[in-house]
Amino acid sequence: MKTLHLPKQINFSVLWFCLLAFPPPITLAGGPRMAAIASAHPLATAAGFEILDQGGNAFDAAVAVSAALAVVEPSGSGLGGGGFWLLKRAADDKEIIIDGRETAPLAAHSSMYLDAQGNPIPALSLDGPLAAGIPGLPAGLAHLAKKYGRLPLLKSLRPAIRHAELGFEVGDYYLRSVQSKEATLRRFPASAEIFLDHDAAPKPGFRLVQKDLAASLKRLGQAGRAGFYSGETAAELVKAVREAGGIWTREDLEKYRVVERQPIIGQYRGIRIVSAPPPSSGGIVLLEALNILAAYDLQHADPITREHLIIEAERRAYRDRDLSLGDPGFVEIPGKQLTSPDYAAGLRVAIRTDRALPSENLSDAASPAPQGDNTTHFSIIDRQGNQVAATLSINQSLGSGFVAGGTGVLLNDEMDDFAVSPGKPNAYGLVGGNANKIEPGKRMLSSMSPTFLQTEDRVAILGTPGGSRIISMVLLGVLDFAEGHGPQSWVSVGRFHHQYLPDIVDYEPGSLTAEVIRGLEKLGHKLKASKPYGNMQAILWDKPKGLLEAASDPRGEGAAWARQ
Ligand code: GLY
Repeated sequence: MKTLHLPKQINFSVLWFCLLAFPPPITLAGGPRMAAIASAHPLATAAGFEILDQGGNAFDAAVAVSAALAVVEPSGSGLGGGGFWLLKRAADDKEIIIDGRETAPLAAHSSMYLDAQGNPIPALSLDGPLAAGIPGLPAGLAHLAKKYGRLPLLKSLRPAIRHAELGFEVGDYYLRSVQSKEATLRRFPASAEIFLDHDAAPKPGFRLVQKDLAASLKRLGQAGRAGFYSGETAAELVKAVREAGGIWTREDLEKYRVVERQPIIGQYRGIRIVSAPPPSSGGIVLLEALNILAAYDLQHADPITREHLIIEAERRAYRDRDLSLGDPGFVEIPGKQLTSPDYAAGLRVAIRTDRALPSENLSDAASPAPQGDNTTHFSIIDRQGNQVAATLSINQSLGSGFVAGGTGVLLNDEMDDFAVSPGKPNAYGLVGGNANKIEPGKRMLSSMSPTFLQTEDRVAILGTPGGSRIISMVLLGVLDFAEGHGPQSWVSVGRFHHQYLPDIVDYEPGSLTAEVIRGLEKLGHKLKASKPYGNMQAILWDKPKGLLEAASDPRGEGAAWARQ
């Protein structure tokens, strides 16, 4: 596999200046004595440091970065969406996931996106308020600040409020996102007013001002979760959603709660892996694939065999995702079995090094619903060693495209992450699993995989957006870490992906050599080039070297800084 060298749009001079001006100290017991933040937008990374500099810890900084991303990267996440924050508290080594995943409204039902013949109507679960689950991000921020932070919520929201009120000049990524969603945004007056420029896709130089969103953030900051899920914001959200054909009620918002969950924990060749549990499939699929791969010496395998084995491991792990995973509040998850090395050993027996196994030859074929490939990720470590890996989403780029009236809140289209028609092919020819069917109050299955890696000497914090490809990207990052490389390499590594069905390996141009492509085709794999994808944000703390390094994916516009 080759490392891609894509043009980097952010300026690394700030990082190098900080590293030169503040050389890393000898590491003492405890934290790294420096802090690092990697996020998808320089203003979000700066917001995190602003809060650290005001006495906040990594969890306060996580509130600031999450809220800033909601304002400055509206294509990926926002108050109208949800996500998962993986935390490690240095004082007691507590590791926990805050599950702020959206829930299906109480009036949702399994045939809500089907026509009279029982076929999915894709636009219904993708555009407009009917596509939106009940947001979890605001509750996540309130919970983080109250239980783990040092600062009042409002203080940590200040940088985001400022950017929303004063506006900021958007980058190319925003312009492209809006262009691709222009028609949907124009359908909804509040969306067009904010994101378009006189009803047209904006041009370079456009300043995005979001005064209503600033006011919603203020109400959240002043009243905590009640400032979003009750009172003025809640009333306006429900009114706007229902007037535009949605089904939310005040009860949906009042009842929404984040859930604290134990992360999925496992080992790969001496590396401790900590990742997201259901309702994300991330941790289980990641560990299952790593368990399958653990018996092979990938580092010394020839590249064709190496990529073939990774693809075959993904085929099996993603198949189990489709068959068995969903919201643990609604379905029994065989998590212990799927992450057990013995189970992986059983799967490995059927992997041949000389031939690909067509997915249709695996029984009980089901297939994932296609997932939005936007979302966002950030990684943080503070001077005390508190860690956060957070992946946040509104699903597709700019979510449902629907801003709820005067709240300024852009709603998600996360309902599309459910299997909208279990057992039947959807508009993409895919069949979803029963475990992930729509039920009132249920969390839709996710692939978000905020992850910590740990050896005796090294700590890594990583994750990425990218829909179902999130897990295979993190897998490639883990394998690169295992081979001794640093975060600049993990975020740059050329990517390829297989998800069981469709039975295709998609790969970034340049990630596989012509020889490897020919070799994989000879083994029976079908390959398809895709556009570059993902936007990984990663941190490495090398304890013996006293080194803290942060890296932002060269495919994106992010910023990764490490400083005192
Ligand atoms: N909406 C993307 C995910 O949850 O994986």
